[in-house]
Amino acid sequence: MTVFGRPLRSDFLLQADGIFLNNGSFGSVPAPVRSAQQGWRDTVETQPDIFFRETIYTATRAAAARVARLCGTVGEALVFTPNVTESVAVVLAAMDFKAGDEILLLDVAYAAVRRAVDVTCRRTGAVVRTIPTGLQMTPAAYAEGLKAGLTPRTRLVVLDHIVSPTAQMLPIEDLVPIAKAQGARVFVDGAHALGQVALDLDALGADWYATNAHKWLFTPRGSCLLYAGPEVRAVTRPAIVSHYYEDAYPRCFDYVGTRDVTAYLAAADGADYLDDLGFDALTAHRAALIGAANTALGKFGGTLVTPHAPALAAWALPQSRAADTADGLALMKALWDEAKIQIAANVTHGRLLLRLSLQAYVDLQDIAALAAALDRLGWPGR
Ligand SMILES: Cc1ncc(COP(=O)(O)O)c(C=O)c1O
Repeated sequence: MTVFGRPLRSDFLLQADGIFLNNGSFGSVPAPVRSAQQGWRDTVETQPDIFFRETIYTATRAAAARVARLCGTVGEALVFTPNVTESVAVVLAAMDFKAGDEILLLDVAYAAVRRAVDVTCRRTGAVVRTIPTGLQMTPAAYAEGLKAGLTPRTRLVVLDHIVSPTAQMLPIEDLVPIAKAQGARVFVDGAHALGQVALDLDALGADWYATNAHKWLFTPRGSCLLYAGPEVRAVTRPAIVSHYYEDAYPRCFDYVGTRDVTAYLAAADGADYLDDLGFDALTAHRAALIGAANTALGKFGGTLVTPHAPALAAWALPQSRAADTADGLALMKALWDEAKIQIAANVTHGRLLLRLSLQAYVDLQDIAALAAALDRLGWPGR
């Protein structure tokens, strides 16, 4: 049986005197996956020609097939990109927008994704529309917001599976069919999903789904899976033009110039590491930690933002004045500088949100230490 919490920290290089509650931003890579990546780097060094002329194709397809087993699809439906940011560029380029087309996304979409959509709109004359959300949402409220935002001109709907600032998890199984019924293409930004949520991409029916392996699948940074549904594969091309740009999907993505693809290949080892931990046991560990954090933060008047994700949750802290972005940064800095606790904090819908990532190595003592630090230090606008 896997032992979660502190004992598992020996697999990670995270500095020993720190408490790490922000895996969601940049991930963390355990020893077996680090050595698997090093093994691939050594293979490349041993015979670069054979690697880049032959092995890269078979190894990339094998890694995609391994990760596909976690995603409810087949390897041929998946390609690797360095990150969700680049996957968004791929999707936006595939849409070939015209003036007056509409792109619909959440008001809490990830800022870099919103920026990419805005730039695309500026370039093409397409128009952005947003779905308003709040800190306490229900599946029905998301569905109503989506329906209200859809028009006959909506060509693309971007849905976050797990919202970055609020850690809310959307009922995408309900939402994708609503958007598809209106004739829109759907891109799901699942940056936080792989390794945290059980995925069934073929059944979901989204046109595109992008998910980082480097956040929750224990994979080195620079590893993202992009799923393209059968109808859009012909127009789904790499963001950078290289030799095989005109080849069929997924082959066109398997070599995009000479680059270090070892983080892609190590996604297979991230999947093995997750399987060895046991997904169900890990999910139960995370749920227990969220329950404990909710009790601890509730004592300070913190309110859980809902519906939260399995390993990522945010609490709105009580405040006596309007919060601004500097408050989130100040809270993060104070907790690290004064207590060596790394969290994420931001201001969304005018509220200061403390976001916690419950990765496998987190335990109840970490939550208790956070509560003690908040008691001692307070937070901006308390
Ligand atoms: C919802 C969401 N989308 C996109 C991204 C971008 O991911 P990356 O930096 O790996 O491109 C993030 C990163 O945190 C995210 O949370």
